[in-house]
Amino acid sequence: MSMNRLVTLEQFIVDQQSIHKEATGAFSRIFRALELGAKMVNRDVRKAGLVDILGEMASVNVQGEVQKKLDVIADDTFTRVLSRCGEVCTIISEEQDDAYFVPGCEDKEYIVSMDPLDGSSNIDVNASIGTIFSIYRRTNTAVPPSVEDCLQPGINQLAAGYFLYGTSTMLIYTTGNGVNGFTLDDSLQEFCLSHENICIPENGKIFSVNEGNLSDFPPGVVSYISWCKEKDKSTNRPYSARYIGSLIADVHRNMLRGGIFLYPATENKPDGKLRLMYECNTMAFLIEQAGGMAHTGKQRVMEVMPTELHQRVPLYIGSTHMVEQVLGLLETEGNF
Ligand code: AHG
Ligand code: MN
Ligand code: MN
Repeated sequence: MSMNRLVTLEQFIVDQQSIHKEATGAFSRIFRALELGAKMVNRDVRKAGLVDILGEMASVNVQGEVQKKLDVIADDTFTRVLSRCGEVCTIISEEQDDAYFVPGCEDKEYIVSMDPLDGSSNIDVNASIGTIFSIYRRTNTAVPPSVEDCLQPGINQLAAGYFLYGTSTMLIYTTGNGVNGFTLDDSLQEFCLSHENICIPENGKIFSVNEGNLSDFPPGVVSYISWCKEKDKSTNRPYSARYIGSLIADVHRNMLRGGIFLYPATENKPDGKLRLMYECNTMAFLIEQAGGMAHTGKQRVMEVMPTELHQRVPLYIGSTHMVEQVLGLLETEGNF
């Protein structure tokens, strides 16, 4: 990349702000905090094999899952930087039982939701992990902040994105005006625009699902998966199965290449596994902005009205044509 085409994240945000005159500096401050948090977590991730931060902590989070040390480190890091930026009133996190109201910021406008470390089962095996975030506006800043403030549907997101700590470190984000990607230049420690206006192909040939759970999936999903594996030249089948086990990394690949990611309901877990507020809404906003689709099998993800912070929903997300096909089969063959 020649220097005269180099656009840093900071420059990009400033440019966007001058296009949208109504935008205040608050957004830049929140993004600067997120960027700093990601650089700190990235540093810890990169030396994860060298220092004693691998392995499990004794504590268990509200979802009943064992927290990894890096989960806790990432949660703590992002909470600290967001608290200090002076614009965020409330932080909700997959790793926190309750909402955190930032002391001294009770009258501020913004709520940040986050999954500080997504794909944590991949930490110890050096596969891609990431941080997911969304920004919402409080409905009423004149009253004290509350959990109810946070229970907003995904369509209310002002911005959403993820940092991917992969082969390189990336930020992908949207403010509702398309999706752009930035890659961290290690030597400059700057996120530089590398993927402008990302569009997901309308169709693809990658399906991503934990097939180990196949016998528990709804009949419509079982039919779709066996259809993906059939041989048929005219539709480019069989498709390829790709599953990392990090939502971020799986959706990232599918967004760039075309494909579908499924985390279905099962009979015992009718809401699936993934969390609406920390994972699904963010990815849904990004994928829709890139031209794809995100659905629970019953409704558009971003229209689900949350009733609790740690709520889960089934997820079918990716290339429009593929998601529509699964929805058709859920309808005709059966859903839970
Ligand atoms: P987290 O690490 O934040 O708990 O999220 C893990 C999630 C998601 O990233 C991934 O897509 C999914 O769990 C994988 O679940 P399975 O191991 O059940 O396939
Ligand atoms: Mn996660
Ligand atoms: Mn997590």
